[in-house]
Amino acid sequence: MTTSRFYALVPAAGVGARMGTNIPKQYMPLAGKPILLHALETFAALPAIAHTYVVVNADDAYIRDVLASEKHLSDRLTVIYDGGSTRQQSVLNGLHHLRERLADDDWVLVHDAARPGLSVDLVARLLEELREDAVGGLLAMPVVDTLKRADGEGRVEATVPRAGMWAAQTPQMFRYALLCRALEQAQEVTDEASAVEALGLRPKLVGGSPRNFKITLPHDIALAELYLKGIE
Ligand code: C5P
Repeated sequence: MTTSRFYALVPAAGVGARMGTNIPKQYMPLAGKPILLHALETFAALPAIAHTYVVVNADDAYIRDVLASEKHLSDRLTVIYDGGSTRQQSVLNGLHHLRERLADDDWVLVHDAARPGLSVDLVARLLEELREDAVGGLLAMPVVDTLKRADGEGRVEATVPRAGMWAAQTPQMFRYALLCRALEQAQEVTDEASAVEALGLRPKLVGGSPRNFKITLPHDIALAELYLKGIE
């Protein structure tokens, strides 16, 4: 039996440039509340998650108002005002703030603020599959479309074999000390798993869900609302 605890870390310091809006995408409304709040409530609803940390920019102008009306989250959630210039740096800044609070072998579930479709069941599946794992892993989806690599002119340079290809989602779940070491040593990476892979380790792929997609473009909001209403 493992005695390690589980923590959620949600980087929310991006600006969401592709949304083309004034407010950062994690604060845009979705089904009546800010995008970011959906995942925070999912983690708060799971007794197995000891605590959730959300990393925002030092000058974030939104998070206080968002949480002011969510008193039920106050003892389950801590805001860290120390976002970085990249997602990797925001996660690392958050991890460094937790140095005194987490043990080396505690698990950290890093989750994008922009994935509001995360459900309690998906987190439970991830914990179940990985709690005894030596490395850790991530939610991911097998790729179903045929993959093309483009040349500089938007023409197909090659068709990439699809067999064995997965699209990474979050949460990505690794032990605290390993995750710190991996992200400190990695060159620019866009997820935690790639940093861990760079250490020569092989994170486990755990089946995710289409509803856990990342909101990137304006029309994604309507799609996410459909998923939250109950289509699977
Ligand atoms: O921009 P993208 O969708 O890839 O961002 C993924 C997640 O990383 C979002 O939750 C975003 O807020 C976060 N992020 C961050 N710090 C940055 C850039 C992105 O916390 N500098």
